[in-house]
Amino acid sequence: MNIKLILGTLCITALTVFGNVSKAVNVEEAQTKTLRMVTEATFPPYEYRENGRIIGIDPDVVREIARRNGYALVIEDMPFNSIIAAVQSGKADIAASGITITEDRKKIVNFSDPYITAGQSIIISKNSTIKSAADLKGKRIGVQSGTTGDIYVAENIGEPERFDNAALVCAAISSGRLDAGVVDTAPAKEFVKRSEDIKMLPEPLTSEEYAFAINKNRTDLLEMINTTLVEMKDEGLIKHIVAKHEKNVTKDTEEIKETGFWADFKDDFHTNFVDDDRYLYLLNGFVKTIEISAGAVVLGIMIGFLVAVIRSAADQTGKLKIANLICKFYLTVIRGTPVVVQLLIIYFVIFGSVDINKVVIAIIAFGLNSGAYVAEIIRSGIMSIDKGQLEAGRSLGLSYPKTMILIILPQAFKNVLPALGNEFIVLLKETSISGYIALEDLTKGGDIIRGQTYNAFVPLMAVAIIYLTVVIFLSKLLTLLEKRLKRNE
Ligand code: ARG
Repeated sequence: MNIKLILGTLCITALTVFGNVSKAVNVEEAQTKTLRMVTEATFPPYEYRENGRIIGIDPDVVREIARRNGYALVIEDMPFNSIIAAVQSGKADIAASGITITEDRKKIVNFSDPYITAGQSIIISKNSTIKSAADLKGKRIGVQSGTTGDIYVAENIGEPERFDNAALVCAAISSGRLDAGVVDTAPAKEFVKRSEDIKMLPEPLTSEEYAFAINKNRTDLLEMINTTLVEMKDEGLIKHIVAKHEKNVTKDTEEIKETGFWADFKDDFHTNFVDDDRYLYLLNGFVKTIEISAGAVVLGIMIGFLVAVIRSAADQTGKLKIANLICKFYLTVIRGTPVVVQLLIIYFVIFGSVDINKVVIAIIAFGLNSGAYVAEIIRSGIMSIDKGQLEAGRSLGLSYPKTMILIILPQAFKNVLPALGNEFIVLLKETSISGYIALEDLTKGGDIIRGQTYNAFVPLMAVAIIYLTVVIFLSKLLTLLEKRLKRNE
């Protein structure tokens, strides 16, 4: 294959990615009156997914509030323990996620009037000997991280095992890895209905009230929401929405099927990918993963080149002292901190109150991170070129930059190609933490499926195979490029 063709394709991909991204930003800017809601959507009947859409009591209630006040609603799915922070930082206008009013949370956000009375319940396996809360001492208890269940268990029973969502807690109970789980009562009922291996204790542990969380500065929204909530309660609409969703989740009862390895596999395949079009989570996630990786590679190369050239020039000519210092600082900070932390800082702190597309944020975070490694790789390439070459170039009358561009960099690039290739492979896999900022990348797509089907093996395998395929393809492409460059020598 022609090397120009490869590079050309790469450029076009990058341009399309950036093109799409900027389009997405514009669309977001164009809608002036939108209400941005955050939730954690593995919490039926309050919020869950059906055919890829987030539905449930909370989305329905908030959509109605939005509609009556002339807002369009945008819903975002994120880990429960980031939800309050998202409202506080202004990333979202309202959190609607079966959130219990607590004194601690009241210090950070405002709560609307309560719209539901709820509580925590204990889930155990069908053949468990646990009879009441008193039997829980010393047992392995699972909770969803950051929930009132988590707080209750930690304060009254002992350290719980913390999971990302309640569905995973139930899966761990049915597979025998936990003795019990503490989950909000209504979702607990739904999970028990869907699984043959678990049951609930009839006595709830706590009594709580759900409300919507709103940013402290948005008293206008608070008032609007409370007024509309009163209207909706008076009309009996809240009750109606609750009843609708409690019925909705009950409907899927399991029919008896044939068993055996092959039949089981076919069955699992069907539930995890075909039912409800779940494969779309993987497909859309894959596209996001590629967008983020391609964008970050381009940004990383640009930053890396710049930093490497500044550092080498400073070394070789003794100029650019300040620029060199800045580059060194950048390298130290980026290489000295975990990429997840960088991603979270960029999302929640740096772009905390700016509304830009999350793919762009991820590209910036991963590009900045990768740039540091690319810089050092390219610098090592520059150093590997014999000093005589620089001198030869200069004595031919070429300026320092010209010698760099015409003589040193092309050779350096060839020498470091394998190391660069490796960096891009690492980068691709690193984007799998995008789920931390509620980006639905490939890994997160697998997580969403896992949360719905309680099957860990099939979705995780599928995700692994997809990454592996891309990496193999990338490696092939790189080998080709290397061969091509050798032949050009
Ligand atoms: N009511 C509990 C709390 O406020 C749990 C809510 C969990 N919600 C969710 N969508 N996962 O802490």
